[in-house]
Amino acid sequence: MPETISELKLRPATLDDAALVADLDSLRDPEEPRDPVLLRHWWRMTDQMEKGMRKVALRDGAAIAYVSATHELWDREENRYGTVRVSLHPDTWSDSLYAALVEIAEEWLRGEGAATAVARVREDFKLEAAALERLGYREDRRMRMSELDLLKHRDEILAARDECRRQMRDVGVKLLVLAEDSDPEKYRKLYATVIESEKDIPTTVPWRVLTFAEWMRFWFENPGVREENFWIAREGDAIVGCSVLDCPVVRGVPWTIFTGTSRAVRGRGIARALKYESMGQAIEAGFERVRTNNDADNPPILRINEQMGYRLVSPLIELHRGLGA
Ligand SMILES: CC(C)(COP(=O)(O)OP(=O)(O)OC[C@H]1O[C@@H](n2cnc3c(N)ncnc32)[C@H](O)[C@@H]1OP(=O)(O)O)[C@@H](O)C(=O)NCCC(=O)NCCS
Repeated sequence: MPETISELKLRPATLDDAALVADLDSLRDPEEPRDPVLLRHWWRMTDQMEKGMRKVALRDGAAIAYVSATHELWDREENRYGTVRVSLHPDTWSDSLYAALVEIAEEWLRGEGAATAVARVREDFKLEAAALERLGYREDRRMRMSELDLLKHRDEILAARDECRRQMRDVGVKLLVLAEDSDPEKYRKLYATVIESEKDIPTTVPWRVLTFAEWMRFWFENPGVREENFWIAREGDAIVGCSVLDCPVVRGVPWTIFTGTSRAVRGRGIARALKYESMGQAIEAGFERVRTNNDADNPPILRINEQMGYRLVSPLIELHRGLGA
């Protein structure tokens, strides 16, 4: 097994390496295998909408180490954050190799002018969390990665969906999937609502607002997102909310990747009704569980999830380290 970074023989990773890196990532938690097709999509989006570098090391045709660093296309001098990702095969793991991989990502970010490196790690991945801590990374935020057991909660979810449907009908809010909506302006309207609501997701690391064209690619070129699974809420002429499931193509668990409502309609049960539609549809499609990640400082969505029966899988910790001197 390689013991030093030069023995690893890292080389630039191409989109075709996404499947190997998905296999490597999947070793961490068999309950959460990574989908190779979706990972390739995320890499492609990063190439088009952010800036980044990726390196991989192989042994006997399998990935044993991976490192990447990415950052938003900065439009300001301040707030220059870059994200570091490292995966190391359990048989190859050593603190020094892990540290050397993080160092490669940090070096690249420094060259780009980043001020702060950001790493996100599950709290129960003790080895990685401890290694990052030793390298000077400190917690800035935490998220809750949680799971809903669709088999266990099947009957309650379907009953709650019926109740939400009744409530929404009574107040004139229509729930439907995007594919069913015939309004030629639907994408523009949805874009406006999503951009407004995503600004309210608690975050330290700012993200750039995508242009409409970028946003269309980001959502609708995603092979896991289909307009038949994209729930929207309409009030009159406006689209006032949505909830979206990202479904695995090859393997893995479906994830709710976004739920949002326009500021003007909050607190009326619209997000809850959208989520119940989405979960009801997932049950009918035969899925057994669904996951989601939410900032620990986002009470409304945590409240909805708790009521639906989500349970914590693990906190996901966002760690920061200053890249200065
Ligand atoms: C999260 C969000 C989708 C909720 O939308 P909404 O339409 O207001 O949600 P609902 O009305 O269905 O339910 C909100 C629930 O949270 C509760 N709530 C709101 N603020 C709360 C707070 N500060 N503490 C505790 N509960 C709170 C409401 O009382 C309600 O629960 P109840 O019906 O049992 O009283 C909306 O706030 C949003 O778009 N936020 C920005 C995007 C985001 O963070 N999305 C989630 C991560 S992807």
